[in-house]
Amino acid sequence: MTAPAYLDATQPTPARVADLVSRMTLAEKVGQMMQMHTYDGVDHLIEKWHVGSILHASPDGLARAHELQDRSRLGIPLLIGEDCIHGHSFFKGATIFPTQLGLAATFDPELIRRVGRATAREVSTTGIHWTFSPVLCIARDLRWGRVSETFGEDPWLIGELASALFHGYQGDGAGDREGILATAKHFAAYSETQGGRDASEADVSRRKLRSWFLPPFERVAREGCRTFMLGYQAIDGTPITINDWLLNDVLRGEWGYDGMLITDWDNVGNLVREQRLFPDYAEAAAAAVKAGNDMIMTTPDFFTGAQEAVARGLLDEALIDAAVGRILTVKFDMGLFEDQRRPDAARQAEVIACDEHTALNLEVARRSIVLLSNDGTLPLKRSATHTLAVVGPNADDPDVTLGDWAGASGQADWLMEGHPREQIATALDGLRALSGAEVTYAKGADILTVEPDPAGGYFADGQPRAQIVVPAHPDERLIAEAVAAAHAADAVVAVVGDRGELVGEAKSTATLELIGAQVAMLDAVLATGTPTVVVLLASKPHVLPASVHERAAAIVWAANPGMQGGTALAEILFGDVEPSGRLPISFARHAGQQPTFYNQIDAQHGVRYADLTQEPAWVFGEGLTYTTVEYANLEVLTPSLTPDAVVRAAVTVANTGTRPALETVQVYVRDVNSSVTWADRELKAIRQVALEPGESARVEIEVPASACTIVNAREERVVEPGDFTLLVGPSSRRSDLLAGAFRIEPTPASAIS
Ligand code: NOJ
Repeated sequence: MTAPAYLDATQPTPARVADLVSRMTLAEKVGQMMQMHTYDGVDHLIEKWHVGSILHASPDGLARAHELQDRSRLGIPLLIGEDCIHGHSFFKGATIFPTQLGLAATFDPELIRRVGRATAREVSTTGIHWTFSPVLCIARDLRWGRVSETFGEDPWLIGELASALFHGYQGDGAGDREGILATAKHFAAYSETQGGRDASEADVSRRKLRSWFLPPFERVAREGCRTFMLGYQAIDGTPITINDWLLNDVLRGEWGYDGMLITDWDNVGNLVREQRLFPDYAEAAAAAVKAGNDMIMTTPDFFTGAQEAVARGLLDEALIDAAVGRILTVKFDMGLFEDQRRPDAARQAEVIACDEHTALNLEVARRSIVLLSNDGTLPLKRSATHTLAVVGPNADDPDVTLGDWAGASGQADWLMEGHPREQIATALDGLRALSGAEVTYAKGADILTVEPDPAGGYFADGQPRAQIVVPAHPDERLIAEAVAAAHAADAVVAVVGDRGELVGEAKSTATLELIGAQVAMLDAVLATGTPTVVVLLASKPHVLPASVHERAAAIVWAANPGMQGGTALAEILFGDVEPSGRLPISFARHAGQQPTFYNQIDAQHGVRYADLTQEPAWVFGEGLTYTTVEYANLEVLTPSLTPDAVVRAAVTVANTGTRPALETVQVYVRDVNSSVTWADRELKAIRQVALEPGESARVEIEVPASACTIVNAREERVVEPGDFTLLVGPSSRRSDLLAGAFRIEPTPASAIS
């Protein structure tokens, strides 16, 4: 008997897909569209539902799934997905990099591409084909629990870094044995929450979508990111899951996207339950398939719902065939029918947490740390620091060092004890190893305890409900220990921030202040007068207390810096490495200032509240070095150009201090007059230059005129000819930027065809 055509690797993918689909029953096709978690085992997933994909599978669960899949009627390989968000999150001992927000602080696409590559190499040895990363959400409300998963607040930077990361994951394409599928998520405007509350309805117009939220997604769609994940939320009453305009007119139509769409967790169930658009799963399944969803994540009722929809005439089976075809195309293109890329112990031994990846992780962690203020205490002088007091609840916490989506963060029930402690350098570990001083340690404060939510342990979609956070009261004994350590030391490093209970899905915070006893501890330690460096080891920007603004010798933000974070931090504090990170997101002075992103539209009544400035504490792009860098002589070389030309300019950047710097030159554009209100300035380019003390460089700048767009009242993205300002400097702060003028002339009529 000849083998079926779909098993013949010499056949083109479309022929193999058509052959296989023709052999599948309706139940098998519906199952192929399902991705299920394995928390309740895997047997029923494969034997009863014939699922096409699984996620959150432990190594044992995966082995069992493979065993069953080998015995399945058609032998269709499973697509194995996982949230490998900043490294191989839940594979014990894998390299865990800084969170995505920490990565963004490097402002370095090439470095981030290498992180994607290293992650893919590790992930691909473990039987996983698909990561649900990168996140392209714009973080605009700091109260949102998922800020740490984003690249921050700027759409251009998000596009730049997301492009780099997904290329790193996918490598040379579907056939790349060391590559994995990437996912652009959460399409679109999921982050545009109300009050920072996770998964709330997004109040955003189509014009606003096109202006800020869609451009990063458009970029990766056009560049070949193979899968897109849809947000949970609705926009203007239409859940993304069935948003025909967004999915079909824009994504598949305008952008020509031919990849795979996956819902987020139980989006189809949500259509019935919370969003209440449909009375039953048959109607919800029909609507989701009609809208073009291919893979349905964790909605068990989709199995009967979709079949019933066909039986009731609500859904044409041809649409199921098309979705299954897109899923199978990915599987064939990846060569999974020939090689299922199952776990490979030998390759794991070679690449998981190998020296090369550990070195890369250290490099990234160094680059991710941002120096926010410094009275000259930093770098700490080893000769003058005989005793160093390290205090604070985040100084020696390995889980906070890694951040959400890693080890013990709660999404993987097989790794609740977290990654091996010896692989993680906390701040205390790093300082002990590198300071050369006597290092004393006092925790000083607790952050919180938790209580069960009386509403129950789980949401209706099966995801765990966050426990209720109870801020810790100051403990006099702990504070006294920290104060005693500070008194006895030449310098203090106080490491404060947030922790897992305050970070992640359904864990938005109403406040941005340091929770629990941390402020009381900081006040007491700062009152000792011993020079104190405050390190905010926190998933997202926080509002720091007045005592810190007024009395801290220096302030550093270390996001969740990953496994090498403590080493990188210590190197920077002691000046073995220069600080170079820049803020990918602004820091507020008060939660009531939300939002604080820099590229807002100016208001008629200025930039003050009656009781507070609107100015953030630190702005997008900001970050200090141990030297001084001056900008001068911005010269626009193309003062007048046509829309198809490139704006060229040059600026002199001089290191006028005594230490080296890696300077991130930021280039913003202002459209002087536009047909609609628009952001005062938008980032359009960055250049990074290494400068030795006393060195200066003439930095060349290029911005395509075609990038100087706005979205007009008809929702069209256009360049409006006229006057523009080029703004160049070390941050987005207006007063930091040199300005030069250029003019984009209308395209000559003769050139318009
Ligand atoms: C829900 C989250 O919103 C999404 O980001 C994640 O990829 C899936 N769960 C799978 O874990």
